Amino acid sequence: MPQEFDAVDLIRRKRDGGELTTPEIDWLVARYTDGYVGDEQMAAMAMAILLNGMRRREIHDLTQAMIASGERMDFSALSKPTTDKHSTGGVGDKITLPLMPLVASFGVAVPQLSGRGLGHTGGTLDKLESIVGWRAELSNDEIMRQLEDVGGVICAAGAGLAPADKKLYALRDITGTVEAIPLIASSIMSKKIAEGTGALVLDVKYGSGSFMGDIERSRELARTMVDLGTDAGVNVSALLTAMDSPLGLTIGNANEVRESLEVLAGGGPADVVQLTVALAREMLELAGVHDADVEAHLRGGQAMDVWRRFVEAQGGDPDAALPTPRESLEVRAEADGVLTRQDAYRFGLAAWRLGAGRARAQDPVVHSAGIDLAVKPGDEVRRGDLLWTLHAEDAARFDRALEALDGAAEFAAPGTAVELPPLVAGRVGADD
Ligand code: URA
Repeated sequence: MPQEFDAVDLIRRKRDGGELTTPEIDWLVARYTDGYVGDEQMAAMAMAILLNGMRRREIHDLTQAMIASGERMDFSALSKPTTDKHSTGGVGDKITLPLMPLVASFGVAVPQLSGRGLGHTGGTLDKLESIVGWRAELSNDEIMRQLEDVGGVICAAGAGLAPADKKLYALRDITGTVEAIPLIASSIMSKKIAEGTGALVLDVKYGSGSFMGDIERSRELARTMVDLGTDAGVNVSALLTAMDSPLGLTIGNANEVRESLEVLAGGGPADVVQLTVALAREMLELAGVHDADVEAHLRGGQAMDVWRRFVEAQGGDPDAALPTPRESLEVRAEADGVLTRQDAYRFGLAAWRLGAGRARAQDPVVHSAGIDLAVKPGDEVRRGDLLWTLHAEDAARFDRALEALDGAAEFAAPGTAVELPPLVAGRVGADD
C-alpha cells in the first residue's frame, strides 16, 4: 500500500511557502484524479501554488505525476523522427495549418494533437472542421498509419492523455488559478511528453492577446517548459512571439483556413509566412534536418501536396468550397490617420461574439463567422477606407461585436512613424 498523506497538511505547507516532496506530489495528483482529494482542496492548493510558486524539482514531479495519470503514446516504431509545435494560444493563430504540411514535406513526422477553442482564442480543430467531411477523431492506429503514409496528422488529443491535467485545468479555469507558471508549464508539458514526440518547439506568446501579458513572464514560462522537456529527454526550444495584434488578416474558422491555403500556395500575409517559416526551421533543426530551404517548399507546392493528402486522409475534400457567411458588415475609417494598434484580445472577443468561438465546451462554433482585417498596424488609412469586415449567420450579433471593438484600434496623425514590436522577440533553447 503506497504511503498516504493528509491533503490539509500539504495545502498548509504550500500556503506557508514550503516545498512538497516527490511522494507527496505523486499522492496528491493520483488521489485528486481518483476523486479522494476534493475539488475544494485542489483549488486551495492551486491558489497556494499561484501565490508561492514551485521549485524546479516540484514542477518536474507535478508534470511526471500528471503524465502517469494516463496513457503514453509511442512513435518509436515509425521510420522517421517526430517533431511537433505547441502555441500558448493567440488570436488569428492559424499557424499549425500551413506549418504541419510544410514540416512534413521534409520527411519528418508531425503528430499535432490539438484542442478546441475556448474563450477569445480559436481552436485548430474548429478551424479545420470548416472543411466538409474532415474529421478530428482518429484512433491510435490511424494516427500511426497517417504519420507513416502522409507524414502528419492534426487530430483531437485522446481523453487518455494526462487525465489529471484535464480535471485540474477545468478547476483552474473557474478558480482564478490559470496564470500560475508552474501550473501552465506542467499542464502543457505533461500532454506533450505523454504524446511522445521526439522534438518540440514552443511558440510562447507575449502581449495583450496572450495570457502572459509581458515578455519577461513569457520568457520565464518558456524557460520552465524547455527545462521540463529537456529533463524528459525531448529536444525542445521556444520562440517568444508577439501577440499584441491578431496574426494575419483573418480571425475565425473558414476564413483562417482560406488564409492558410494562401500561405501554402506561396502567398499570404507577411507575418503568418514569417512565423510559419521560423517555426518550421526550428522544428526541422531539432529533428536533425539542418539548413532546410522551407520557403522553397511553399513556393514549389510540396507543402500544398502534403496538405491535400492530409485533408483527404481525414475524410475531407480539399477542393470543396468553404462555408460563406450569411451576413456581413463593413467598418470604415472615420478620419485619415495611421493605424498604430489593433488590440488582439478585443478582436478575439469580437470574433467570439460573432459566433466563431464557444462559451461552453459543448457549444458548436459557426464556421463562417469571424472578422477579415483590411489593415495592419503601420498602415495609412484615408477617411472612408475599409478597416474590417465582420461576418455572422445572424445580424443581431453585430452590436455586441462592435461593442468589443470600440476603442480596440488606435490611430495617429497621418505620416506618423509606427514602431512595431518584433514578431519573434527571442529564443530559449536547452543550453541557454
Ligand atoms: N494550455 C494548457 O494546456 N494548459 C494551461 O494551463 C494553459 C494553456
